[in-house]
Amino acid sequence: MSATAAWADPLDVAVGKALFDRLWVPAPASTRGSDGLGPLHAARSCAGCHAGGGGTRSAARPDSTIDPGALVVRLGSDAGPGDPVYGLQLQPLGTAIVAPEAAVAFDLNPSPDPSLGPTVTGIRLDALAYGPLARATRLEARRAPALYGVGLLVSVPDATLDALADPDDRDGDGISGRRGTGRFGWKALEPTVTSQTEAALATDLGLSTPARPAHAGDCTAAETACLAAPHGDGGNADGVEVPRDALRALVAYVSALPAPRSAPDPATDLAGGALFRDTGCAACHVPALADAAGRPVPAFTDLLLHDLGPGLQGGFPEGTASRSEWRTAPLWGIAAAVRRGDRFLHDGRAATLDEAIRWHAGEASTARRRYLALPPDDADRLRAYLEGL
Ligand code: HEC
Ligand code: HEC
Repeated sequence: MSATAAWADPLDVAVGKALFDRLWVPAPASTRGSDGLGPLHAARSCAGCHAGGGGTRSAARPDSTIDPGALVVRLGSDAGPGDPVYGLQLQPLGTAIVAPEAAVAFDLNPSPDPSLGPTVTGIRLDALAYGPLARATRLEARRAPALYGVGLLVSVPDATLDALADPDDRDGDGISGRRGTGRFGWKALEPTVTSQTEAALATDLGLSTPARPAHAGDCTAAETACLAAPHGDGGNADGVEVPRDALRALVAYVSALPAPRSAPDPATDLAGGALFRDTGCAACHVPALADAAGRPVPAFTDLLLHDLGPGLQGGFPEGTASRSEWRTAPLWGIAAAVRRGDRFLHDGRAATLDEAIRWHAGEASTARRRYLALPPDDADRLRAYLEGL
C-alpha cells in the first residue's frame, strides 16, 4: 500500500467511515441525524455502490444480465444532462409514500464484432411511474469506480494537467487530451472530492448539504409527491440533512482511502512496461503524475478527456465532454478488479481487458491497431503487466 493523503485527521476518518457505511432512512424517523434519505434514491449508503471503498461488482449472470444494482442509469439529451420529469438519474428506489421511478434491468446483447464479447446495450425500464421519458432523452449506464487513491488525484496541480492537454493536437500524434470541468467521474466533471461527494449525496441518496440545500435530491418539479414528502434536517445549525462537519468527515475518509498497489516493480517487468509505452497506451494512461511536492501518483491516467470514437459514444454531453469523450480511466487497482471478476469501461460493457482494449478507437486508434498487431506472446505480456497494476 502506498501513501494516503497526509492531512487527514484520524477522528474525522473514523467518523467518515461510519457515515460512508451508514444506511440512511426516510424522514421522519426516530433516528434523527440518519434520516432524510430520498425520497427518490438509487441506494441507501455510499457503501451500497462503493463497498469497502471499492467500485461496482458487476460480473455477468448466467441469464446474460447484470445485477440491476451494479450500474446507475443517467439521463440526458443532445442539450446536456437531465430529463424534464425524471431528472439526472433514474431512481429505482422510493419510500412508503413516494413511488420509485422505474424498475431497471441490464441485458448483455451480442455486439456487432464478436471479438468485443457480449456488450451492455440493453437497458430495460419497466413501470415508469411518472409518465414517459421526454422524446429527446437517452439513457446511459455508468459503473461506480473504485475510490482508492482519489485523495492523491486531487494533489496533482492543475498546471500539470494543463501542460499535458493538447486540445488542437499540435504535436500531431492523433491524441488531443482536453481538460474537463474537473477531474472526477467518467466525464471529469467534478473538481474535488468534496464536490463529487455532495453530488453523490444529492443525486444517489437524496440528501442535502450546505452547497446543495434542496432536500429532495434529484426530484423535479413534476414529481410533486417527492417534493412534498417530509425531509430530515438532523436538528443541526446548517439546516441540511448532512451538515458541514459530517461532510468534512465523509470527505476525509474517502480522501484517506489508500492508493492501490502501484506499478509493478520496473526491474521485474521491464518488458511489460516497454510494451505498454511502445504500444501507445502511456500517451493517455500516463504511468505517474507528480503531486505538488513532486511525489509520484502512479494512477496510469492523465485525468484528461479523450474522444474514443462512436462505438463508445454515450447518451449526452456533460460539462466540457462530448458524447464520445471520456476521462482516461485510472488503471491502478485493475489487478484487484480482474481478480474480483469486475467488468470494464464506463458502462461495464467489457468482460476482459482484451475486450476493453478492443473497444478503444478515436484518439486511441493507433494504440488499438498496434495492440492487435502484437505477436501473441507480447499481447499476453502486455495484459500480464496490466494485471499487475
Ligand atoms: C447508486 C450508486 C452510487 C452511490 C450510492 C454512490 N456512488 Fe459514488 N459513484 C457512482 C458512479 C456511477 C460514479 C461515476 C460518476 C460519473 O461519472 O458520473 C461515482 C463516482 C464517485 C467518485 C469519483 C471517483 C473517480 O475516480 O472519479 C467519488 C469520489 C464517489 N463516487 C464518492 C461517493 C460517495 C462519498 C458516496 C456517498 C455519499 C457515493 N459515491 C455514493 C455510484 C455511486
Ligand atoms: C487516447 C487515449 C487512450 C489511449 C491511447 C489508451 N487508452 Fe485506455 N482508456 C482511455 C479512456 C478515455 C478510457 C475510458 C473509456 C470508457 O470507459 O468508455 C480507457 C479505458 C481503459 C481500460 C478500462 C479501465 C476500466 O477501469 O474500466 C483499460 C483496461 C485500458 N483503457 C487499457 C488501455 C491499454 C492497454 C492501452 C494501450 C493499448 C490503452 N488503454 C490506450 C484512453 C486511452
